Amino acid sequence: MPVRYGHFDDDRREYVITRPDTPLPWINYLGTEAFFGIISNTAGGYSYYRDARLRRITRYRYNNVPADTGGRYIYLRDNASGAYWSPSWQPTQRKLDSYECRHGLSYTQISSAYLGIRAQTLYFVPIGETLEVWRLRIRNERDEAARLSVFSSVEFCLWNAQDDAVNFQRNYSTGEVDVSGGVIYHTTEYRERRNHVAYFACSEPLAGFDTQREEFLGAYRGWDRPAAVERGESGGSIAHGWAPVGSHHVRLTLAPGETREVIFVLGYQENPPEGKFDPPGSGVVQKKGAEQVISRWLRPATVTDGFEQLRESWTALLGTLRVDTPDADTNRMVNIWNPYQCLVTFLMSRSVSLFESGVDRGMGFRDSNQDLLGFAALAPARARARLLDLASTQLPTGGAYHQFQPLTKRGNNDIGSGFNDDPLWLVLAAAAYLKETGDAGILDEPVPYDNEPGSATPLYEHLERAVQYTLDRLGPHSLPLIGRADWNDCLNLNCFSDTPGESFQTTVNRADGSAESVFIAGLFILAARELAGLAQLRGGSGDGYLAAADKMAAAVVEHGWDGAWFRRAYDYFGNVVGSSENDEGQIFVEPQGICVLAGVGVDNGIATRALDSVRERLATEHGIVLVHPAYRRYHVELGEISSYPPGYKENASVFCHTNPWVMIAEAMVGRGDAAFDYYQRINPSARESLSELHRCEPYVYAQMIAGKEAATHGEAKNSWLTGTAAWNLVAITQWILGIRAELDGLRIDPVLPAAWPGFTATRRFRGATYEISVRKPAGLAGRASLVSVDGEPIEGTLVPPAAPGSTVIVEAIVS
Ligand code: BGC
Ligand code: NOJ
Repeated sequence: MPVRYGHFDDDRREYVITRPDTPLPWINYLGTEAFFGIISNTAGGYSYYRDARLRRITRYRYNNVPADTGGRYIYLRDNASGAYWSPSWQPTQRKLDSYECRHGLSYTQISSAYLGIRAQTLYFVPIGETLEVWRLRIRNERDEAARLSVFSSVEFCLWNAQDDAVNFQRNYSTGEVDVSGGVIYHTTEYRERRNHVAYFACSEPLAGFDTQREEFLGAYRGWDRPAAVERGESGGSIAHGWAPVGSHHVRLTLAPGETREVIFVLGYQENPPEGKFDPPGSGVVQKKGAEQVISRWLRPATVTDGFEQLRESWTALLGTLRVDTPDADTNRMVNIWNPYQCLVTFLMSRSVSLFESGVDRGMGFRDSNQDLLGFAALAPARARARLLDLASTQLPTGGAYHQFQPLTKRGNNDIGSGFNDDPLWLVLAAAAYLKETGDAGILDEPVPYDNEPGSATPLYEHLERAVQYTLDRLGPHSLPLIGRADWNDCLNLNCFSDTPGESFQTTVNRADGSAESVFIAGLFILAARELAGLAQLRGGSGDGYLAAADKMAAAVVEHGWDGAWFRRAYDYFGNVVGSSENDEGQIFVEPQGICVLAGVGVDNGIATRALDSVRERLATEHGIVLVHPAYRRYHVELGEISSYPPGYKENASVFCHTNPWVMIAEAMVGRGDAAFDYYQRINPSARESLSELHRCEPYVYAQMIAGKEAATHGEAKNSWLTGTAAWNLVAITQWILGIRAELDGLRIDPVLPAAWPGFTATRRFRGATYEISVRKPAGLAGRASLVSVDGEPIEGTLVPPAAPGSTVIVEAIVS
């Protein structure tokens, strides 16, 4: 019997975890705008404002034993017996009589019972606010009155999370707090150049508080047995240096059957620099703004309404597409969890998770553009703003910084530069946005280069320069130069690193590097054809771009085809990579997916041959591995890819991001069973019964699943922040279910598994609602042969945009 750690509750859009000791902490995200946090199923995690590195509010300890230390901890104490416990299980790990964690969309609720006391804590960030609410409900299920103590606790981070973790000689002396009216303000560095504080407030009169960590915990103690909780009495400590914490102590007596509510609010407040002190010049924090917000959010009715508003906003967002297919895992992922993960990747890029520390990465240029592919339909206005932010960091050459910081929106080279695929993703993201919205005006929007005032050109020219960037950098086989790397950050063909520990991403490359990428060639074809479409939208012909795409496709067939699959690259010396000529790394998945997606060989059998090779050599029961055979020794001419042990990460794991490219390719060549089969193999919900092996959350995609040459084949890592989210949503909804926004309308072109009798869907598109039903005889594969709109057959499968506000009935028959 597979061990399960919980189950889906689709009606409430929640995953319900029923035992606290999940294989790894299973996390969720709080916040959708500016105040964010991660929270595990046992209340671990941390919070920050906008930038996880520069405005970290609470501490968390990565890479630490026991795992998942630091969180939003509440302790309950029975004052008659002195027994105390954590209603979220961590950090005391007292064995609870019952336990349940419900991770919902942007909220988490943890419930438990112990010694006849039921506790339920709801955590969420209200819309429009820069704070998080913890609503604790306690119910006395005993026959007699219960005298209880409630202790809250957070450990403040001294704002810059990186400095906080290393610069102790300074940090142990800078910490400051201000406790006023029962509210704990974390005020470190406010006296000097900061004009923001964190606050932690409680709805009930306090029996005490603590703000100095060692006073609350006691010497040589951890969060599992704080001295203050053990003795049932706070110390009233005021932190001067060392480690500021926030802890409230509330005493309650509950009659049998009585329920009480205690609300805690943890927030971030910025004051205008001129008015930061009260009275002016005093050095005392101006608290008027914060006090108003706090008093509002400590009221139960505000919390109830705020939570309702959050739930409704998700109902609205998810209304973009609802599907009803014969497969429950598909429905659940498409209707709930996959769009949710797309929002999270849109917000976080690759910065904040249990695998990303929030200190070393900003927003990836390539990553954020791909995230838009999954997000554009959900919230077009936010997608538009992001697109313009991304384009504003583009360089005048058409090239791109590899990342930018969310707080400043400025590009930087901190994690490397010269990845020659980067700029092309901007074209794909812009095209996706335009197809969704029809907002052609965005192409004329003036956008600067590298945020330089005075450098603006229309967005359209940014896209032209992005495509030109590739054409300006072609190698000996007329294929694009790879630069530092392409989508595969670890294929560092001009790097030649032989120094231990050196970063492959930032090491200076050989200046004359002429290694070429077949992957970028495929991506270029795709981008150039998209750009041709946009050119036509503006009254041009797009012919130049179409011709450039055709020419590149010819180069791919001539120099990139290995006989049974697409090659991966040519290295610095002109030797082929990803070929039957190689002893290791003979076939890579990326060019098979992307070249077919770009249409190469779809009409002459090359595409299906490549996909057959994928099935023969790369497919496993846990998904498609990135490369085979894995590299067993270090290849200085290939770089980081060969630094990983076989079967992990880029060296032949199931790198999930690439799998949907193959699904799309299979759909493009009309093989619905193969496409859907690959979809199911990595669908987290479909893998739920493998939780013991898979180990990561069953409600979101992970970046990788250990490959067939790994010792732990089937084990997932790097859950949540991965381009897998956007691409899988694209693959299943646009190519398998076939509901695809195009510049001129909504395409209905399903390529379904043969066994399905069809499906129904509701899609909101440019303000109109499309009620779609697809019917086909079970057992038949194939594409739609007849599409009708409001009962009238149309020519082809493209449904023209309907008037905003209207509802359109679309029927498609596969026969
Ligand atoms: C990882 C890649 C990642 C790269 C850039 C490498 O160590 O293997 O997946 O894209 O770092 O941050
Ligand atoms: C993760 C990175 O975030 C992404 O940009 C890259 O394409 C993949 N790793 C593959 O290397």
